[in-house]
Amino acid sequence: MVNPEHLAAVMAVATGGAVALPYSVTGLRYLTVDADRRAVMRRGWFIRATWRRTAARIGLVQTDHAAKVGADIPLAGELRRSSDKPRVLIPRIAVRVEAWGLRIDVRTVGRIGLGELQAASSYLADAWRVPQVRVEQDRPGVVRLRALLRDPLTVPTRYEPDASAPVDLASWPVGRDADGQEVTIRSSGVSGVVLAGLAGFGKTSFLNTRFCQLAPSPAVQFVLIDGKGGPDYDDLFARAWLYSKDDLDQVHAVLSKVHRLMLLRQGGIASVLGVKNVWHLGPSEAWPLVVVVVDEAHTFFNETKTDKARDKVTGEITRMVEELVRKGRNVGIQTILATQKATGDAIPTRIRDNCQAAVSFAQRTSEASVAALGADIAEYPEAHPRRLQHPDYIGVASMVVEGRPGFTLVRTPRTEDDTAARLAADTAHLVSDPLALIEYQTRGLHAVEDDTAA
Ligand SMILES: Nc1ncnc2c1ncn2[C@@H]1O[C@H](COP(=O)(O)OP(=O)(O)OP(=O)(O)O)[C@@H](O)[C@H]1O
Ligand SMILES: [Mg+2]
Repeated sequence: MVNPEHLAAVMAVATGGAVALPYSVTGLRYLTVDADRRAVMRRGWFIRATWRRTAARIGLVQTDHAAKVGADIPLAGELRRSSDKPRVLIPRIAVRVEAWGLRIDVRTVGRIGLGELQAASSYLADAWRVPQVRVEQDRPGVVRLRALLRDPLTVPTRYEPDASAPVDLASWPVGRDADGQEVTIRSSGVSGVVLAGLAGFGKTSFLNTRFCQLAPSPAVQFVLIDGKGGPDYDDLFARAWLYSKDDLDQVHAVLSKVHRLMLLRQGGIASVLGVKNVWHLGPSEAWPLVVVVVDEAHTFFNETKTDKARDKVTGEITRMVEELVRKGRNVGIQTILATQKATGDAIPTRIRDNCQAAVSFAQRTSEASVAALGADIAEYPEAHPRRLQHPDYIGVASMVVEGRPGFTLVRTPRTEDDTAARLAADTAHLVSDPLALIEYQTRGLHAVEDDTAA
């Protein structure tokens, strides 16, 4: 049997693509492009050539109710000529070849619009023999379909630091979406971020990338806490104001300092900066953004119920982290909590609920996805972290992006350990002590006040 897709290709090549199949790509071009592109072009011709039949079979057609009265329903005993049959309207399409597949613009007709095409997307994927058809409204009257031959999110990308690029502390470039668009989430005014996902799906690499983006700025100081206790962060400690592995007392000591910093900054911000929110001015060398990374954060929130002394420390750590997340926003302290633990209690809800951003790599269960991203994720099956369990999706995360509806899947770049280590060494001279700084800034202030009093 002749494969209709190949037949469409042969026809297009034979006719120069112009006579039988009038769309932008020509048969001539077909001969000059690589095999991947040819496959996309063939599929495009196939979709175009079979569109009327496909639309009819899937029910994306409608009879023209604007036809003259009585045209739909013959009167009893009335003989009808074939020309009297009600007109069947099929939405017109325009097919374009793109890097990952085909873009098909469908002109809406009658009651066939966004909702009907969304409902038909899986049937269209079957009819066109593609893994996925995505549907969105392009502009009034046009719905855009994307028939993806390969999911672009499965192609890994790599982060390369650009030393000459200015560091924008207000935003956080996280990667690219399925259409190759840069995705950025907000960093200004964010005091808490939850980062979740199954072991080995890219959480630490994501944090390395963020570290590399921020490390060249003297207006950023890091606190790095690694609950795994392994070597993951060893090379980055050089660029950290404070750091610790999984030793509970050490973590307690580190967080106590950060907590004290927060209290002093709260007390001094109005006098030192003249504003009540550092983001109104943006962080600076004199008032740096303090990024607190707690990897494998669940390590520090679990109570044993048997070891009282340990549970006391755990309780205090939990309280300090909760306050940092709840009150750190105005004073420029941002806490990022990463966890592979999938249960709802991995990060206490009173901490999680105060985090403004959540990012989830693959998850095994709906419960885990809800624990990371909130209950709304259930309404967005396309961006559900359960979809990401395949190794091809290592490094792909689901998140809310301001200005976009629902959740967005993002391919995050991989940062090589060497890259991050080199950057940490190169920027180690930028480490300063924000606690000493605020103590100095506020002491100076009291001295001035004292002078005035005297
Ligand atoms: N963005 C990415 N793109 C491609 N591959 C990645 C990406 N991120 C991570 N990987 C690969 O996956 C491996 C595990 O990544 P990573 O250590 O970041 O996972 P993790 O989620 O922190 O795991 P764990 O929970 O065990 O700490 C990396 O060594 C790397 O090979
Ligand atoms: Mg990790």
